[in-house]
Amino acid sequence: MARITAAVFTSHVPAIGAAMDLGKTHEPYWQPLFKGYEFSKQWMKDNRPDVIFLVYNDHATAFSLDMIPTFAIGTAAQYQPADEGFGPRPCPKVIGHPELASHIAHSVIQQDFDLTIVNRMEVDHGLTVPLSLMCGEQDPVHGAWPCPVIPFAVNVVQYPVPSGQRCFNLGQAIGRAVESYDDDLNVHIWGTGGMSHQLQGARAGLINREWDNAWLDQLITDPVACAKTPHIDYVREAGSEGVELVMWLIARGAMSDVVQSDTTKSVAFGAGSVRVRHRFYHVPASNTAVGHLILQNA
Ligand code: DHB
Ligand code: FE
Repeated sequence: MARITAAVFTSHVPAIGAAMDLGKTHEPYWQPLFKGYEFSKQWMKDNRPDVIFLVYNDHATAFSLDMIPTFAIGTAAQYQPADEGFGPRPCPKVIGHPELASHIAHSVIQQDFDLTIVNRMEVDHGLTVPLSLMCGEQDPVHGAWPCPVIPFAVNVVQYPVPSGQRCFNLGQAIGRAVESYDDDLNVHIWGTGGMSHQLQGARAGLINREWDNAWLDQLITDPVACAKTPHIDYVREAGSEGVELVMWLIARGAMSDVVQSDTTKSVAFGAGSVRVRHRFYHVPASNTAVGHLILQNA
């Protein structure tokens, strides 16, 4: 059967992608940020997954205000990096995993989560920047990402956006869906976006180190309580775009200390335990506080 072995959490600032694409990673501004991902790139090589289930948000790239899916799962065979105004990023196309994606869609919808099925879309910095951070620069033509990726887009741009609790519950359902897939696949689930940042209005540039780090502590040690954080707390404490953090709760909900194979038990704790492999926090990166965690199922 397939198993989720690890969760990776990271911010997705577009300027990080530009710094990599333009060869600026050793510049004094960027060097401390990329240093925080050295461990992660080696860890990815040592713990190479068969599939990455990548939770991210689209930034009005694939989805406009014309159509706003709350949760959208990519079931396509491949996805091209999108043009977000400066041309597509020079990175490889993303290869999908239609079989596992379709299985997860079926299972999660049967568990009462309404997903939008996406058979064709382009992917923006929300998805490609985390891949670049974890896998390093790849040649756009001759290079490739290390494994297939299932994009899972969450609306955190246009209200109403889903609650942290709903994201957490959805993560549990995704964990059960993966465990019910017959093939032996090593699956990583990634939660991306955040941490504190606000890109607009009077509080543009807001960063809240103390709140971010307390939230990370709680995400690790008491995810059930973390899931109860209301939207107003994210917005007040972590800025209007800080609400992207609800996506991390999807990945956290899929970990083995939370997921139960037996859905008749409504208690939130599974039998497994989770180990912190890496934790990193850095300010500044563009307008955003960058947070990064690697959790592994023990
Ligand atoms: C920035 C951060 C984001 O999450 C984003 O989607 C766009 C820009 C920034 O910090 O510049
Ligand atoms: Fe964003």
